[in-house]
Amino acid sequence: MFRITTPQSKTEFERYFDLRWRILRAPWQQPRGSELDHHEDNAIHAMALNDEGQIIGVARLHQIDNTTAQIRYMAVEERWQGSGIGDALLSYLEEKARPFGVQIIVLNAREDSVKFYTKRGYRITGSGHLLYGEIKHQKLEKRLDS
Ligand SMILES: CC(C)(COP(=O)(O)OP(=O)(O)OC[C@H]1O[C@@H](n2cnc3c(N)ncnc32)[C@H](O)[C@@H]1OP(=O)(O)O)[C@@H](O)C(=O)NCCC(=O)NCCS
Repeated sequence: MFRITTPQSKTEFERYFDLRWRILRAPWQQPRGSELDHHEDNAIHAMALNDEGQIIGVARLHQIDNTTAQIRYMAVEERWQGSGIGDALLSYLEEKARPFGVQIIVLNAREDSVKFYTKRGYRITGSGHLLYGEIKHQKLEKRLDS
């Protein structure tokens, strides 16, 4: 079992960023720090904790304008993938965004995770960037309330 919550303490944030780095950066030999950007202090952070209190999934949402927000850095610990954690993280961030007036959520998805998002109401709006010369991305968006 797992539950979704927001990291609070310095230690929790260290573990949260560590998972983000291990899943999304380390396999492409990217240095520590490459998993961060300048929105961290003004973002909604979500993490999944297992029964032992370990962080097994992470995701982040930051607002772009009055009605639009972007989700970035969705990552689930490899052995927990396919257990519904990504789904729960997405729902958590969508619900947290609503009170801020967010109506549209945009994201850039790695090509092999596009289906995960389209199953959850996101639609492809165009092709995105090529990360590290090899990871193709698609742009997707979802209107909340749809
Ligand atoms: C993509 C990711 C966040 C999804 O989280 P997850 O916890 O594994 O997904 P869930 O268990 O909540 O959802 C599983 C569902 O999505 C589907 N799914 C999950 N990952 C998928 C993928 N890569 N391709 C196609 N379908 C996928 C499953 O078939 C399943 O379908 P169902 O809802 O019909 O049962 C996770 O697999 C991950 O961290 N992948 C590696 C990092 C990554 O690519 N992050 C996304 C960057 S844009």
